[in-house]
Amino acid sequence: MLLTMQGRPHIELERGRLAIGGIPAMALVERYGTPLYVTDVDRVVERYAEAKKALSSRHENVNVAFAYKANSTPGVVRALAREGAGATVVSEEGVRLARACGVRPRDVVIDGPSKSDEDLAAAVKAGVGMINAESVEEVLVIESVCASLGVRGRRVGFRVNFDIRAETHAGLATGGRSHKFGVAREEVVRFCEEYVPRLERVTIVGLHSHAGSQISDPGVFRTEAERLVELSEELRTSGVRIDEFNVGGGLGVSYDGGGGPPIGEYADATAGTFSRKGRGDARVVSELGRWIVADSTVLLTRVNYVKEAGGTSWALVDAGMNTFLRPALYGARHRVVAAHAADRTESDRAYDIGGPVCETTDTFGSGFRLGVQLARGDVVAVLDAGAYGSSMSSTYNMRPLPRTVFVAGGRARVSPAC
Ligand code: LLP
Repeated sequence: MLLTMQGRPHIELERGRLAIGGIPAMALVERYGTPLYVTDVDRVVERYAEAKKALSSRHENVNVAFAYKANSTPGVVRALAREGAGATVVSEEGVRLARACGVRPRDVVIDGPSKSDEDLAAAVKAGVGMINAESVEEVLVIESVCASLGVRGRRVGFRVNFDIRAETHAGLATGGRSHKFGVAREEVVRFCEEYVPRLERVTIVGLHSHAGSQISDPGVFRTEAERLVELSEELRTSGVRIDEFNVGGGLGVSYDGGGGPPIGEYADATAGTFSRKGRGDARVVSELGRWIVADSTVLLTRVNYVKEAGGTSWALVDAGMNTFLRPALYGARHRVVAAHAADRTESDRAYDIGGPVCETTDTFGSGFRLGVQLARGDVVAVLDAGAYGSSMSSTYNMRPLPRTVFVAGGRARVSPAC
């Protein structure tokens, strides 16, 4: 009998035999090789639907614009588009992908602190629902891009920097005053007073805030929502009518097998706040990324060598920081389980798990107890690898990009192109 992992109904594990979406991990490894990302698309859709429901039950007009940077594999973004999800993108290629997946232009949002003229031109041409500017200069650049394309009436918002320091990893906090993100509140006010009457091709209709990622305190989102509403009221004196509030993404997940922050609290802090503050008429955009995809995916990797080094037992696997960067970049700790070690001797030996890249930081962490003794050829699975896993992979050390396989309705296939 297979046991379902707590809070992860799509993943089953029994003493070294792992199945995802009902398909044995080893059948996928034999067919596709390693390292291999395996994503349960049904699980992605389920999480999206949960988020959409929680937000929509607190506000009428909601766009859950999935953050493509968290996972941009076509199999994932296409499935989400089919369910009606919007898209948050940060580049020309992101605009193209969202459109190719069938996302309606009005449901596409483009963010990013340093968009190129090409990024902006792609967004302007596609007529995306919102271009969030991160400097006052950018608004003027968008004006001139519109002028050179002969286009008018583009919807622009400000990503506002409210100097909010969210509790998260320092590398994932974006809301501090001196961070490169967003425009200070008072600068937004000043710009609107001075420039709004002179803007010919763009209209300021949106306000956006994103204070960071992997945030578990709903109070952060509530503060952002309240400040966005306050600012929208202040901007009325400059003739600015805000019709769209964007609360960014950032809701955290648990990487240790727990439940993580509940979506209802996030929805209440964001969509609920706008309704309570009398802005039930506005559109609310949520740019969730991690929360929707994190637990959908496992990374399967094969043990190449096991060796002892100065009292440490190393399991050296074929996935490295080029495959999955989070542990090396943020010291992130993901659970690792044995996926094919059923016939191994039971053992509580602790392993440090390292990859093939010639960098000391190329490890998944230390002291992993998998319940079995590992040997060359075994396969282990890194859990909750669906957010910022494949999307941050690279060819560093001249290694090929990892493949991703999708499981849906009990069948597996390689990601279709979009
Ligand atoms: N909106 C904006 C403007 C963002 O910058 C981000 C993420 C999101 C939405 C989506 O945030 P999420 O819901 O996924 O937290 N590579 C890091 C995470 C970087 C997040 C970048 N911005 C990691 O692996 O933890």
